[in-house]
Amino acid sequence: MMELKIQLIPTGEIILSPGKNGENHCHNCKVVASDGVRAMMESALTARDRVGVQDFVLLENYTSEAAFIENLRKRFKENLIYTYIGSVLVSVNPYKDLEIYTKNHMERYRGVNFYEVSPHIYAVADNSYRSMRTEGKDQCILISGESGAGKTEASKKILQYYAVTCPASEQVQTVKDRLLQSNPVLEAFGNAKTLRNDNSSRFGKYMDIQFDFKGAPVGGHIINYLLEKSRVVHQNHGERNFHIFYQLIEGGEEDLLRHLGLERNPQQYQYLIKGNCPKVSSINDRSDWKVVRKALTVIGFSENEVEELLNIIASVLHLGNVQYGGEDSNACITSDIQIKYLARLLGVNVSVLTEALTHKKIIAKGEELMSPLNLEQASSARDALAKAVYGRTFTWLVNKINASLTYTMMKWCLLYAGTFLFLYITNAFFNYSVIGLLDIYGFEVFQHNSFEQFCINYCNEKLQQLFIELTLKSEQDEYEAEGITWEPVQYFNNKIICDLVEEKFKGIISILDEECLRPGDASDLTFLEKLEDTVGGHAHFVTHKLADAKTRKVMGRDEFRLLHYAGEVNYNVNGFLDKNNDLLFRNLKEVMCMSENKILTQCFNREELSDKKRPDTAATQFKASLAKLMEILMSKEPSYVRCIKPNDSKQSGRFDEVLIRHQVKYLGLMENLRVRRAGFAYRRRYEVFLQRYKSLCPGTWPNWDGKLSDGVSTLVKHLGYKPEEYKMGRSKIFIRFPKTLFATEDALETRKHSLATKLQAGWKGYSQKCKYQKLRNSAIAVQAWWRGILARRRAQRRRQAANTIRRFIKGFIYRHKERCPENEYFLDYVRYSFLMNLCKNLPKNVLDKSWPTPPAALTEASEHLRKMCMQNMVWSYCKKISPEWKHQMEQKMIASEIFKDKKDNYPQSVPKLFVSTRLDGENINPKVVQALGSEKMKYAVPVTKYDRRGYKPRPRQLLLTANSAVIAEEGKLKQRIDYGALKGISVSSLSDGVFVLHVPSEDNKQKGDVVLQSDHVIETLTKIAICADKINTININQGSIKFTMGQGKEGIIDFTPGSELLVAKAKNGHLSVTAPRLNSR
Ligand SMILES: Nc1ncnc2c1ncn2[C@@H]1O[C@H](COP(=O)(O)OP(=O)(O)OP(=O)(O)O)[C@@H](O)[C@H]1O
Ligand SMILES: [Mg+2]
Repeated sequence: MMELKIQLIPTGEIILSPGKNGENHCHNCKVVASDGVRAMMESALTARDRVGVQDFVLLENYTSEAAFIENLRKRFKENLIYTYIGSVLVSVNPYKDLEIYTKNHMERYRGVNFYEVSPHIYAVADNSYRSMRTEGKDQCILISGESGAGKTEASKKILQYYAVTCPASEQVQTVKDRLLQSNPVLEAFGNAKTLRNDNSSRFGKYMDIQFDFKGAPVGGHIINYLLEKSRVVHQNHGERNFHIFYQLIEGGEEDLLRHLGLERNPQQYQYLIKGNCPKVSSINDRSDWKVVRKALTVIGFSENEVEELLNIIASVLHLGNVQYGGEDSNACITSDIQIKYLARLLGVNVSVLTEALTHKKIIAKGEELMSPLNLEQASSARDALAKAVYGRTFTWLVNKINASLTYTMMKWCLLYAGTFLFLYITNAFFNYSVIGLLDIYGFEVFQHNSFEQFCINYCNEKLQQLFIELTLKSEQDEYEAEGITWEPVQYFNNKIICDLVEEKFKGIISILDEECLRPGDASDLTFLEKLEDTVGGHAHFVTHKLADAKTRKVMGRDEFRLLHYAGEVNYNVNGFLDKNNDLLFRNLKEVMCMSENKILTQCFNREELSDKKRPDTAATQFKASLAKLMEILMSKEPSYVRCIKPNDSKQSGRFDEVLIRHQVKYLGLMENLRVRRAGFAYRRRYEVFLQRYKSLCPGTWPNWDGKLSDGVSTLVKHLGYKPEEYKMGRSKIFIRFPKTLFATEDALETRKHSLATKLQAGWKGYSQKCKYQKLRNSAIAVQAWWRGILARRRAQRRRQAANTIRRFIKGFIYRHKERCPENEYFLDYVRYSFLMNLCKNLPKNVLDKSWPTPPAALTEASEHLRKMCMQNMVWSYCKKISPEWKHQMEQKMIASEIFKDKKDNYPQSVPKLFVSTRLDGENINPKVVQALGSEKMKYAVPVTKYDRRGYKPRPRQLLLTANSAVIAEEGKLKQRIDYGALKGISVSSLSDGVFVLHVPSEDNKQKGDVVLQSDHVIETLTKIAICADKINTININQGSIKFTMGQGKEGIIDFTPGSELLVAKAKNGHLSVTAPRLNSR
């Protein structure tokens, strides 16, 4: 099961912590069963007690400053530095690195509703960005606060957020880099170490970030306000001049310093030793120098421009070291080498410069005269030049950065768009949306407040005006849009103070200008008197003279007090006129206009000299630039970041309540809260409210199908809201008291536990179902895959079969043709199948004559095979037979040769085996054996002898030896016929056993041919033929046989077929033999 883990992070949010592979994990996590939900710590009662509320509007006692500060304290203790007042972000400087600015955090806030996540600077940045994108309206983020409260850091965080999260192409990357790199450059030239802040911005800054239609940053524009130029020539104890001087001296390469005539020791320079604080532990000038040098390159400064810029910086240091001597009324320069260096670096003539630094040009009666300066005048002329050079160079630097941020866009257009497209694309490009970032000094209240504080506080009055107008207006607009009656809000409108300062003719600035321009002996004190005369009756203006006794005690006679919306501030008038005049002698301007340094020629314009009109005073310029700023801001939708510094010692974890109360007051935060809480503490769109709390009412859980407002009504009725506790608008519900909301939140917290169990069960079921579904799908996929394979195999087999049949048929058609591609398969197949068939059906034995019919092409081969087969069978048969059997076979062969197809009873004799003898030793008379002597008897058979006269049958024994055939009767050898004398043997073709042994008639020993009859005539005759070697002398006769009976007489034996064997003397004197007919013939 997927588990959701939650983690307490420094912003106070309990949030999923994504792991390496995208899974969520964290250490010391609580496991909850929900997905992607960001649970607010504020949701839980216990957490709320510990870390306070994340939005001050939810403070029950919202008018209590103590409650406000207590909430800040609780959160600060838990490292929760951000808290809202509605949409205003209050930020307390932690003075330590909290790990809440990582890329992960940026991602977390990206595209997420402002209220869904815990307060963060990224939430403000993202909200502005999204409003700009969705509503198409320009935005601005106003960051204010005391020196060291974290304004610049906040603005950098916002810039980084956009650089990381906004879409970017390659071209845009350059702009992003330049936007980011503009910070170190501006900080080097415009920031300094003060008692309050080691990196204090000594100018106000408004920066526009321009986004194209895709939401990518494509350019920027910076406006600077009121640089603290006096710092160039003077620093309070423990403070430094602008960083760039120290960076150059510490980090500049030897060659560079030599070229600039500088030494690597800040103590050598008058303008750097006033504060007696050349080194600061938190600042590394050397590495900062490298960063600035690189940034200058990224922004697009050429090497020449950098050189000229550094010449100016070095010249300011040299200017500070210019010493005056001589008479008091006629100052002259005592440091010759210094002035030479200075002239070279400024690119002006030495003598002209020397004169300009010691004289003043006056026009009397139309004539120009050079009047020498006294020592004090000369020193202040020198300082004025240093301030003017530095101040104007700073403005030039801002303009240069602006040009570089704009130029990229133009260049891109020119590069990538043709001339025709140019207009179209630039239109598209310049039709950008803007987010402005205002990093400007908050209210300043010191022991001694001067012209600068007056300007700064005036600026804050103007910003408060803007805030009131825009916030109240938007509040009122929202009520109107939601159809809720607008209840007038009691708040202090500070317009009256703005008017007091800026009103034409009657305002403090006008009076100051008048005193500056007035001929005669105008001084700071006459200015104060004039103020008393003009605005003395104003409710927000007091001087020592006008004050009551109690106030007088805390006011100097040279001070006036303004009752600002944020509190009272006493201003000392000393220096007001000078600072407002900000004068630089004309001849010094002229010298600068002659400079060969290109930057200086841009800073000191010749037109300025010819312009007879007096330049605007510093206050008027500031007023005008503020008016312009207000115009810019009015055209945009504002978001506010109010920065608070927790202590004066730059320490982390220290919450100085007095200091914070002071800032809460001067930042007007209570006023902010009062305005925000004038009506309802909490409001949410119906869908958001319903979505969050629907589980608390059975009617709306799990889903509400009807109108959203009806759903919310059902829900709040179920929750028991009283009518005075809430109002239903058109698209939002408005809840008057925080306690109502908290009660609902607490109910939700309890409900979550039971929901979690249900969700777990649901999730388990779902995940199992998914698992099963996955398995099932896998099985189906495997099945389908396997079926596919089988089907493909089948189809392939069918295809092959069809091809084979086709080839076969074709081959069959072409079978009688010569071997050709069409028939070769068929012919091969026929051969193959014949051979295979033959192989299976070979004859089993030599007598088996079966043989498959070969195809025409194999006739010859078949014949060879058949013979070979037969030979093989014969050979193996022969190998197997015994000598006895062989002998038998040989005899049978001879019998076959003699009798086959010639004698009727031959076939019956074939299956009967020939025996070696038919008479053994017992049956033959021993006398006969004796008479035979050494002659070995080879065969003996009983026969019937028919004598020559009367053909009487007489039983005899026929004995065959190696040399002769012997006829024996009992113990007598009756007749011996040597084989050599055996002329022939006659036998009939019928089935009888009668045969005749023919002997020569002339042989007297013989008594004529011998007529014998044997029951085994075939065997007997075969034996005789073999023994006598007379195979070819056996005659097989048809009808009758003639034989000699001795003494030249001849006998005849007639053979006739009959029913049974009958041998008898016929009437004609012949021996008649009737042989039984056998079936074979
Ligand atoms: N969010 C933050 N996290 C950690 N440190 C911070 C944060 N904000 C500010 N600081 C610390 O406080 C110092 C002062 O902040 P910063 O320079 O932004 O003040 P500032 O309001 O711009 O002051 P000034 O008006 O003098 O320019 C920073 O140098 C940094 O050390
Ligand atoms: Mg700053």
